[in-house]
Amino acid sequence: MPQIFKPSADTWLRTFAAVAALGLIAAALFGAGVARSDWVTRAGWPVEQPVPFSHKHHVGDLGLDCRYCHSDVEEGRYAGLPSSHVCITCHSQLWTGAEVLEPVRASFAENRPIAWKRVAALPEYVYFDHHIHVARGVPCVECHGRIDEMPLTWRAKPLQMRFCIDCHRDPAPRLRPVNQVTRMDWTGWASDPANRGFGERAMRRFHIQPAKLTDCNVCHR
Ligand code: HEC
Ligand code: HEC
Ligand code: HEC
Ligand code: HEC
Ligand code: HEC
Repeated sequence: MPQIFKPSADTWLRTFAAVAALGLIAAALFGAGVARSDWVTRAGWPVEQPVPFSHKHHVGDLGLDCRYCHSDVEEGRYAGLPSSHVCITCHSQLWTGAEVLEPVRASFAENRPIAWKRVAALPEYVYFDHHIHVARGVPCVECHGRIDEMPLTWRAKPLQMRFCIDCHRDPAPRLRPVNQVTRMDWTGWASDPANRGFGERAMRRFHIQPAKLTDCNVCHR
């Protein structure tokens, strides 16, 4: 048989295969790192809005409850964003001429919603429901962070699958009394800092079964 390749070609081929394999591993590692980075998840990046609405002023300083503006959060799948009517109840008296509030006045006058840019939206293929979390005593701050300290709203947590599942495996320490869910500065029980006692009782009372909460069809239906 005539020799097509020189014996050295085999060495080259092996070297090439080895380099390609290393490249693939590096790309996979890099991909995994990027997929979990803030750059991809948008965690920690303030979002520019048509009106520079500040939760820090309205929640942190004025002390408004979340449900004043996100009024569907207890009953519905979605928390809802406030209509400009809600803003105008105060801003027809306060800061009435302010330039920054012009889009709010226009939206109210023309009866169309303000085009807020979404901060926490999930992909279409994920099912999420606020009502069940709020009803079980999972606080807003677990998923949205210290909203009351944000001059512009940003995504505080990655809201990726791993984030959801970490809690679904062991919700007990994160549960609190239902009437405390919107409190941003709740410090828990001095007598039980790990919150195991209350959490375990809540788990039994609501029949929460972590073994079932990680089934794929809980979140992908
Ligand atoms: C005075 C009204 C008001 C109150 C009170 C309020 N919010 Fe908001 N919230 C808004 C408005 C307006 C937006 C849309 C603009 C923005 O993202 O900053 C918003 C946006 C958000 C978003 C981002 C939603 C998304 O995906 O785009 C979250 C999360 C949120 N609010 C949580 C809370 C929590 C938690 C509280 C209570 C601690 C709260 N809000 C209290 C008016 C309010
Ligand atoms: C309960 C009354 C109240 C409601 C409701 C309310 N605001 Fe305000 N807002 C205030 C007060 C008071 C200030 C002045 C805060 C300051 O200067 O400390 C203010 C200030 C502002 C400012 C100026 C920048 C800042 O944060 O200081 C903007 C913009 C604003 N509000 C937007 C909105 C929007 C948008 C809504 C509706 C989603 C809304 N507000 C609902 C009371 C309210
Ligand atoms: C277990 C995590 C979790 C908890 C607890 C939670 N949220 Fe959310 N929130 C989300 C996720 C995830 C989204 C995006 C949902 C989507 O895009 O389908 C979201 C979206 C929102 C939005 C955007 C508008 C909308 O209708 O979805 C607002 C406002 C909001 N949340 C407010 C709140 C408030 C107020 C509380 C507490 C009473 C709260 N959330 C508790 C995870 C949570
Ligand atoms: C801090 C804890 C926590 C986090 C974070 C969390 N969950 Fe949950 N989730 C719960 C608890 C507690 C329940 C209630 C379980 C029950 O009553 O059986 C629940 C229930 C659910 C249910 C309803 C299950 C049913 O049987 O109807 C869905 C859907 C869900 N979660 C989706 C999500 C998604 C998607 C995320 C991430 C964006 C998420 N959850 C993040 C604690 C959490
Ligand atoms: C507690 C909620 C929850 C459960 C349970 C869950 N997922 Fe997910 N899944 C999510 C969320 C949230 C995302 C969106 C992640 C993002 O936006 O990056 C996601 C994304 C995905 C994706 C898209 C690719 C990716 O990784 O981002 C696939 C595939 C997937 N899930 C498969 C599964 C399978 C298979 C199971 C069962 C073993 C499962 N999921 C269980 C919440 C869940």
